[in-house]
Amino acid sequence: MATMTDTVRVWDPLVRIFHWALVAAFAIAWLTADELQPLHEIAGYIVAGLIAFRVLWGVLGTRYARFTQFLRGPATTARYLSETLHGREARYIGHNPAGAVMIVAMLLTLSGTAFTGWLIADPARQAFLPDLPPIVASAQADEDEYGERGGEREDAIEELHEVFANLMLLLVALHLGGVAFASLRHRENLARAMVTGSKRAPEPGDVD
Ligand code: HEM
Ligand code: HEM
Repeated sequence: MATMTDTVRVWDPLVRIFHWALVAAFAIAWLTADELQPLHEIAGYIVAGLIAFRVLWGVLGTRYARFTQFLRGPATTARYLSETLHGREARYIGHNPAGAVMIVAMLLTLSGTAFTGWLIADPARQAFLPDLPPIVASAQADEDEYGERGGEREDAIEELHEVFANLMLLLVALHLGGVAFASLRHRENLARAMVTGSKRAPEPGDVD
């Protein structure tokens, strides 16, 4: 029988450094947007670099860092959500199936944010993109605040950059809600686990 002092190492140091560096870089990118452009772009590139590292580490990393350890199919994920609604979902030692979906959603949305930001920062980088279909182009062709009409595609990409950034804020709110909920349900401080790397040892019924 596990006692309160039995713990198991779950998050390796690189996952933890990745997580808290990502939180810091994302916060800086968010706070400096349209205020302090050079810092905004540096923070955004750091986010992009961290994601590239995490994708690599999801393939090569330690056990609980690997995508194959925590990504489950749609059926398992749906069952997990249904069990959660009924208050009888299992405790997972690694990421639970809902958390796994959230991680993929955050990594994709952050990639989209960083990529569109990179495109705006120098319009020459947009040269390889196809022209917008006329219906989208005309919807975007209103004069901007400086009375200029140019750059429909640029405007559309700026719009997309903000949509990604705002979507990310929503995902972070859901992420924090999920972390708080799972912490309460399984009486375990998950935020602390992302600092120390350790969680309560598996008990009967837990999914390892
Ligand atoms: C202070 C606020 C935050 C806290 C307390 C927090 C906490 C956590 C915890 C506890 C986990 C592990 C979840 C689990 O046990 O399965 C996690 C994972 C994760 N969080 Fe956060 N988080 C915060 C903010 C953020 C922000 C702002 C982002 C994105 C910009 C983010 C992105 C992620 C990602 C990508 C993972 C997956 C970690 C991995 O396996 O590499 N988090 N977070
Ligand atoms: C990945 C994290 C990022 C986040 C959360 C983010 C967020 C934002 C937000 C919210 C805005 C809108 C500001 C406003 O008009 O009120 C913005 C604008 C902008 N961002 Fe980002 N961004 C990120 C990455 C990047 C990167 C990597 C670059 C370029 C290298 C970049 C370049 C720009 C530019 C050029 C603008 C336009 C500023 C303007 O409206 O004149 N961003 N960003």
